[in-house]
Amino acid sequence: MTKVLFVCLGNICRSPMAHGIFRDKIRKYKLDVVADSAGTSGFHMNEPPDFRAISTLRAKGIEILDLRSRIITREDFDDFDYIFTMDSNNQRDVLQMALQHQSSTLPEMMMNVAYPNQNISVPDPYYDDHQGFEHVYSMLDEALELLAKRFLNK
Ligand code: 4NP
Repeated sequence: MTKVLFVCLGNICRSPMAHGIFRDKIRKYKLDVVADSAGTSGFHMNEPPDFRAISTLRAKGIEILDLRSRIITREDFDDFDYIFTMDSNNQRDVLQMALQHQSSTLPEMMMNVAYPNQNISVPDPYYDDHQGFEHVYSMLDEALELLAKRFLNK
C-alpha cells in the first residue's frame, strides 16, 4: 500500500481539501493508496477543517468534517512514500525537515504533478473569500486526478 501525505501551513484549508479530494479518488478508482494531511504549524491543532473548505467540498459531494488538524512530525518521513506541499514556503520548510532527518522521502510541490518544474503554489485561501476556496478546489482536483491516474497504472 502506498501512503501519501499532503502538507500546508495550518492543515485546515488546502491540505485537508487535498486529503478529502484524493480520498474520494482512491475510492472511485479503487487504488491501494492511503491519504493523510498535516500542517507545518500547530496553530490549529485538533481543529476540523475551515467551514469554507468543508462547504466547498460538500457541494462537490466530498465530506471532510471528520478530519482534524495536526502538525507534521519526524515519523511522517518514515511512514509516507510521497509528501506533497501546497506552496513554496511549505516546500522550503518540509524540505529542511527532510534533510535534517536524512529522509529518503523528499517533498514535492503539489502542482508539479500537473505542471512539472513550474513550482506553482496553491494560494492560501484563509484570508480570501469563498471564490478562493473554489479556486483551490479546481487547482487541486486537476493535479489529484493526474496523481490518481499515475497510481492506477502501477
Ligand atoms: P492552510 O491555510 O495552510 O491552507 O490550512 C491557513 C490556515 C490558517 C492560517 C494560515 C493558513 N493561520 O494563519 O491561522
